[in-house]
Amino acid sequence: MKTKNAIFLAFILGIVFISLLAFNFNDKKETAFESWNADDKAMNAKVDSLLSVMTLDEKIGQTVLLTSTRDVTGPSVNENYEKLIKEGKVGNIFNAYEASFTRNLQKMAVENTRLGIPLLFGYDVIHGHKTIFPISLGESASFDLQAIENAARIAAVEASAEGLHWTFAPMVDVARDPRWGRVSEGSGEDVYYSCEVAKARVKGFQGEDLKATNTILACAKHYAAYGAAQAGRDYHTVDVSDRELRTTYLPPFKATVDAGVASFMTSFNELNGVPATGNKYLLKDILRDEWGFKGFVVTDYQSINEMVPHGIVKDEEEAVKLAIDAGVDMDLQGEVYSKHLKGLIENGTVPVEKLDTAVRRILELKYALGLFEDPYRYSDEDRQKKYVMSEGHLEAARDMARKSMVLLKNENQTLPLSKNKKIALIGPLSNTERDMIGSWSGAGKHKDDPVTVLEGFVEMIGAENVIHAEGTKLSRYMKRTDAPITSGFSEAIAAAKKADVIVAAMGELQNMSGEASCRTDLDLPGNQKELLKELKKLNKPIVLVLLSGRPLTLEWEDNNMDAILEAWFPGTMGGHAIADIVFGDAVPSGKLPLTFPRSLGQVPLYYNMKNTGRPIKPNVKINTYKSMYLDNPNTPLYPFGYGLSYTTFEYKDLKLSNDQITNEKGIKVSVDVTNTGNYDGEEVVQLYIKDIVGSVTRPVKELKGFQKVLIRKGETKTIAFNLSIEDLKFYDIDMNFVAEKGDFKVFVGGDSEAKLTSGFSYN
Ligand code: NOJ
Repeated sequence: MKTKNAIFLAFILGIVFISLLAFNFNDKKETAFESWNADDKAMNAKVDSLLSVMTLDEKIGQTVLLTSTRDVTGPSVNENYEKLIKEGKVGNIFNAYEASFTRNLQKMAVENTRLGIPLLFGYDVIHGHKTIFPISLGESASFDLQAIENAARIAAVEASAEGLHWTFAPMVDVARDPRWGRVSEGSGEDVYYSCEVAKARVKGFQGEDLKATNTILACAKHYAAYGAAQAGRDYHTVDVSDRELRTTYLPPFKATVDAGVASFMTSFNELNGVPATGNKYLLKDILRDEWGFKGFVVTDYQSINEMVPHGIVKDEEEAVKLAIDAGVDMDLQGEVYSKHLKGLIENGTVPVEKLDTAVRRILELKYALGLFEDPYRYSDEDRQKKYVMSEGHLEAARDMARKSMVLLKNENQTLPLSKNKKIALIGPLSNTERDMIGSWSGAGKHKDDPVTVLEGFVEMIGAENVIHAEGTKLSRYMKRTDAPITSGFSEAIAAAKKADVIVAAMGELQNMSGEASCRTDLDLPGNQKELLKELKKLNKPIVLVLLSGRPLTLEWEDNNMDAILEAWFPGTMGGHAIADIVFGDAVPSGKLPLTFPRSLGQVPLYYNMKNTGRPIKPNVKINTYKSMYLDNPNTPLYPFGYGLSYTTFEYKDLKLSNDQITNEKGIKVSVDVTNTGNYDGEEVVQLYIKDIVGSVTRPVKELKGFQKVLIRKGETKTIAFNLSIEDLKFYDIDMNFVAEKGDFKVFVGGDSEAKLTSGFSYN
């Protein structure tokens, strides 16, 4: 009997050992380093051989990207897309997902077309695929690059299992005007930080090996300067100097090229008179010739066609010529490459080599993904079941949501709340699944999956301790002049009367930010503020939990609320994460990636403005003839980089290793940060510099480094940064990117108003 048992045990151990080996082997296979390489000989041979036999129609098909009807993210759809796939007239599909669905479409291409070239499946996998993370601006507020990369990695794992090869992300548009709804999709106002986030996201999506079945192509968008739309109105005119373009708007795009991004998407806007989609300066001179980008360029939704209303061409045929000439490789849903390219090539207007180049770039990436080996390798039901919304992914989303929240105010340590108090949870965003996940929530389920604030609170403190009332409602198109609906106020006030503390979940509906969602008024929309005023009369502590895709103007709230927590649109696990922070299971550590103005009249307002010739004199009561407003200070309500914790941090002992920097030798900047409060907490230690005199004027301050560190209560950590000559470079008077000799100031602190200062020079 004993021997039998021993044999059985050995057998079981053997199986465990073999499956462990297999598990490791699979994991290894999926993460091994093998970067996409445009000089790969086998790839070139494959693409050459295809190009040599492809007809003009087959080539044009490869430049066409059409939406499936599964999801629609723009103004038009071609219901015949399946027929077109079978005819080889479309080589790429977006808005399709799930293994069985993508596999079926792939089959149509592979089995019906003459050459069987596999389809490329793209989608807006922006902040998660089905497990939804906080909106990109929220993720950015974490200042945790590893967590940001990990979020993109998880999105890629889920998306790729469902058959996707390509995401239209990261969006790397620097944006400084909160009226623009798409600030929610980016990483804020700062150039240095946006570059870091852009790199992290590309790395997360693409991993180290495009051939691995759990990585997808990334796409840097929207190229370029889309975030500089005049008056913060989407798709609006952009007119910026070359200096501003290169200093502010281009660096994050360049950072993605350096990180190996596989594709670029052109933007809808014109740039200095030429729409980006037909802009040779952007697409050829800079992207290809200066930066050496090797991937392909796709348009935004019908942005070739839109060059007609832009008024740069008389018809779509001319638009096609302009686009292919400028360097656009793929037409997203415009159906104008398919309509006009053939004629333009046949009549000699467009050289066929231009089309060949575009097709080559697209086929190269299909090859790099391994699609020619096995076109179905990504559509994998087993992996889909195993990974999509797995426990680990949901936990990571919850953690990211906690990290993203920014504590804007916490008078008398109102937060965290005790779990033994009765809470009145009020507000139009207190129990709405859809708003938890924000715009561009991809394939994320809008019903059931997202955890609302109410659900999070009930699970945390029990239903008996939560009295819930919406109080008021919001609608996307509401105007200031709309008659306020106050019918829910009495229920909310009655609920609040029974409670010890009021928590108001208010802000914007998810569709009030994102694409085509600009606003001219950034106060709390609707009559939410009026409801808060009524609640305030009860003299109970009020915590405002904000859900928003952008900075709001919150002066009244700042004066009247006891605590304010910016939760953005926190994702699938949002309600749990809010409860974790509000009831103290987690300590807030997010910082603002975008300035919160006092009033809209200050916009655009960002921390690294210029000094002007007439700066305000500090500590002078009445400034005259200065660059200022009569009715508001120049300062923001909450500056870039700002965010409180439940604990406090003290900065001291700023030290520089040297007071001179040289080309060969940088400077080490160090500072002691002490946790002086009662909680362990994470702090984002920030380093800024100011170039005092330049051949062109320089900003008052520029972020050059940050570190997010955990400091336990009572503990002091020495945080060190290295500054090198590279950090001093800018576009000089002759547009050379150089460091100029002179004096520099250093600032270190917990936000962009960092008070500890020192200095060095470069001689
Ligand atoms: C339009 C948006 O501007 C872009 O960001 C998105 O990727 C495409 N539509 C595709 O959905």
